[in-house]
Amino acid sequence: MRGKAAQALGDGSKTPFPPSAGGRRAGRGEDVAGIRPLVAGNWKMNGLGDALAELGALRERLAKSPVPEADIMVCPPATLLSRARAALAGTTLTLGAQDCHPLPSGAHTGDISAEMLADAGAAAVIVGHSERRTDHGETDALVRAKAEAAHRAKLAAIICVGETEAQRGDGATLEVVRRQLEGSVPDKARAANTVIAYEPVWAIGTGLTPTPADVAEVHGFIRGELGRLLGSAEASRFRILYGGSVKPANASELLFVPDVNGALVGGASLKASDFYAILSAYSGRDAR
Ligand code: PGA
Repeated sequence: MRGKAAQALGDGSKTPFPPSAGGRRAGRGEDVAGIRPLVAGNWKMNGLGDALAELGALRERLAKSPVPEADIMVCPPATLLSRARAALAGTTLTLGAQDCHPLPSGAHTGDISAEMLADAGAAAVIVGHSERRTDHGETDALVRAKAEAAHRAKLAAIICVGETEAQRGDGATLEVVRRQLEGSVPDKARAANTVIAYEPVWAIGTGLTPTPADVAEVHGFIRGELGRLLGSAEASRFRILYGGSVKPANASELLFVPDVNGALVGGASLKASDFYAILSAYSGRDAR
């Protein structure tokens, strides 16, 4: 358990980090590397107070039919973090935020620091999502500074990488991902405080997904690159999430691809029934 924010969420003994806390597990949730999967829901700029009812519904479903095979995180907009913390109190679900400023405080109107997110209840923060890279011109250097800020605030950093449609068309996918990893992953990143999310930009919100073979290729490549950057022992413990149009209908196909250690789910995380159906792929239940 890292940080008082995360403690406030649960029983003080459960956290999505470190990734191998559960050790090797039996059944469908088992990953060849013994890495405990993480499924994180990214609500993006969606959700007013009434959306908290979905957290209540998710909580109820999980109480009835738990999915102990995976760690579960919800990343609501920053405005809902405190209320989401209250809504999830007493559960093992954790909260993440969607972005942070690199600095802990200061004259940066409208920005939110990693420390503030931790204070509001987050245990992690997404950095370098393609929507931020595109909408706000975020560079790899800035994404790296944000990941370092997350670590400074004792938050896990979920660092997103992924190619555009044009880059894939040019056969540049691995080169783009390599450059993003090199530029965005801090030297001191460890599996215990960092997650990589591979999100092909063309798959986000489009209903399109890469083939399992393509996902396996990129995830294997990412693990190899992490090995080059951080050492292969550390890389072998990293969680590498797949993101981009993960839905109940394709979860079983995408979540058990080699080197996929969970998912970052956008649109389908907004409804408790869809998010739960994705989670339940780990229990081998068809909750559609
Ligand atoms: P999507 O979004 O699941 O709606 O495609 C994924 C993401 O952007 O994290």
